[in-house]
This record gives sequence, C-alpha cells and structure tokens, in this order.
Amino acid sequence: MIRSVVRGFGAVLPKRVLTNAELESMVDTSDEWIVQRTGIRERHIAGEGETTASLGAAAAQAALDKAGFKAADIDLIIVATSTPDNTFPAVAVDIQNRLGMHHGFAFDVQAVCSGFVYAVATADAYIRGGLARRAIVVGAETFSRILDWTDRTTCVLFGDGAGAIVLERAEGEGTSADRGVLTAQLRSDGAHRDKLYVDGGPSTTGTVGHLRMEGREVFKHAVGMITDVIVAAFDATGLTSEDLDWMVPHQANRRIIDASAKKLGIAPEKVVITVDRHGNTSAASIPLALATAAGDGRIREGDLVLLEAMGGGFTWGAVLLRW
Ligand code: ACO
Repeated sequence: MIRSVVRGFGAVLPKRVLTNAELESMVDTSDEWIVQRTGIRERHIAGEGETTASLGAAAAQAALDKAGFKAADIDLIIVATSTPDNTFPAVAVDIQNRLGMHHGFAFDVQAVCSGFVYAVATADAYIRGGLARRAIVVGAETFSRILDWTDRTTCVLFGDGAGAIVLERAEGEGTSADRGVLTAQLRSDGAHRDKLYVDGGPSTTGTVGHLRMEGREVFKHAVGMITDVIVAAFDATGLTSEDLDWMVPHQANRRIIDASAKKLGIAPEKVVITVDRHGNTSAASIPLALATAAGDGRIREGDLVLLEAMGGGFTWGAVLLRW
C-alpha cells in the first residue's frame, strides 16, 4: 500500500516580536487578559520585505535541506494560506520560482486555520493517486496584514510565520505501524461563515478587508467539532488516544487545545504547545509546532502524531500520521 512519509520539516518566523506589553500601548488590553484567555505571550510580525511567499519559501527550503532533497527532486508544492501576496498567482508558484523549480506543479489551498490539514490531505491524495512522488506542503501566513489594529477582540490573537514538511511516496504493508499519513478526515460547514470572515475581497469590495470574528461563537463550536473529527480519525485507523505519542493542534487558543485534549483523554504532556510564542498563525501554526517538536527531538521516527485544526468557514479536520 502506498503511503506519504514525512522526510523533512522546517519553519521560519519574522524577526520582529510583538509582546503583550507592547499591545497594551496600542489598544485597551492587558497582558493578564491575553494570557488568561488565550495563553498567548508574544507573536511575530512580518516587516518590510517579509511576505507570505518569502516566509513560505524560507520554510520550504529549510524542509528540503532537512530532507536532504533538492528542488529538482520535488514535483508538487501545495501552500495553505489565506493571506497570499497577491490575489493571483498562487503563493505556491511564487515559492516554486523562488526555489528555482521550473517543473512539476504548484497551487494554493484555502481553508483558513485548517489549511495545513487540508493541504496534507491533498498532497497525500495526489501522492497515493500517482500524480506526484515528492511534495512540499507549506503553511504560510501574514495575518498581521488583515488585522484591524484598533479592534482589541482580534488584533491580540494572531501572528505571522510559515512552516513546511516534505512528503515522499513509500510502499508499505498498509498497517498502522507503517510510517506515513494513515488517515485524513476533513469537514466544513459554510453556515458558520459570518462567525469568522474577512470583510473584503476582490469580488465584493475590491479591498483586502479585515478579519472579523465572533470569538465566543467560535469558541462554543470549536471543542465539539475538533473532538468529533479526531474520533473519526481514530475510528478510521482502529487506533485510540492511548496509542498516540503526540497531539500537534492548530495553535489558536490554549483553552481550546486543553479542553479538546482533556475530552479525548490525551495526557497534557503529549500535547505540543507553541501558541504562547507565536499566537495564532492560522495555516502556519501546525507546521511551526511540528518543526519545534521534531527539531528539539520530542517527535521521533515511528511516533504516532495527530494533527488537528478548526477555522473560518467553518472548516475543520484531523490527520493521523506515523512520523
Ligand atoms: N483585552 C481586554 N478585554 C477584551 C479583549 C482584549 N484584547 N478582547 C475582548 N475583551 C473584552 C470584551 O470586550 C468583553 O468585555 P465586556 O464583558 O465588557 O463586553 C470581555 O473581554 C469578554 O469578551 P468575550 O469575547 O466574551 O471573551 P472570551 O472569554 O470569549 O474570550 C476569546 C475571547 C479569547 C476571543 C475567546 O472567545 C476565544 O478564544 N474564541 C475562539 C477564537 C479563536 O480561537 N479563533 C480562532 C479559531 S479559528 C482560527 O484559528 C482562524
């Protein structure tokens, strides 16, 4: 049976760090409120010359280096982003060009904070379907550029960054002990559109717009949706939370992560948390957290890893993979 196996990972954050203390001088908020409600202490903000494509390309190159591959070895690039450099072309083709790659194919996936989970599922399907052999999957965002910096209910929550993994086709027995993506479960429901959206776009206002969110409404749905789709992933593989080595959640809010893990009986020490240091980086948060935990040696070859996310749309999903 064909599996998509992780061969490399990488991540980058913009140089500029914005602390909660600095935000106190920008809007009516406090470090205490932000930490208590979200767990966020600081986030990185893209500066001049730093864009979704430049951050994404740096993360992709780092993942290639880690894998020991060159751009010539890759035939597919998928970028998950909701903050592209331009409406078109896709960030993925920009990254393709920046990597010096002029073969294969590249495109973007837009599923907001669930984007990386959707992109991994897409790359896995392309690899298993025989359309690609090696893929770079990138999550890259510059949410700072769609925030209303006068709106304290949203501007304190988000940050910028990028992460990437390299997936390679491998033949295995098809058991859950084999390395690679074991299952991907994806969901969406557009009825929740107005709870989290951007109030601009090329086909409506002709502007880029700002992120708008009913935080309490999002919170209300998050834990149930996340846990349901994770249970579906366990059911599809015959595995349980007991078998799990690492949960690498979308890093939106510490309280959502803790509540989801608790509901599933996943021990806190198995949960990778990075939201304190980079806030909610949307589609970039899972590969940033993966690069952190694989980079410091926590996630090791053969570990069972759960990726999960929920975001605008609503979209949500989970991937179970053996690292
Ligand atoms: N600083 C201080 N006070 C604030 C701030 C702030 N930054 N923001 C809001 N408040 C105030 C509100 O105005 C409100 O005041 P009021 O009671 O006088 O009206 C009070 O704090 C409570 O506001 P709530 O919105 O009810 O606060 P809540 O406990 O729900 O926390 C939060 C808000 C953190 C946004 C929470 O609802 C949440 O985490 N929601 C999920 C959001 C999320 O994770 N979104 C991302 C998921 S999808 C994606 O990643 C794109």
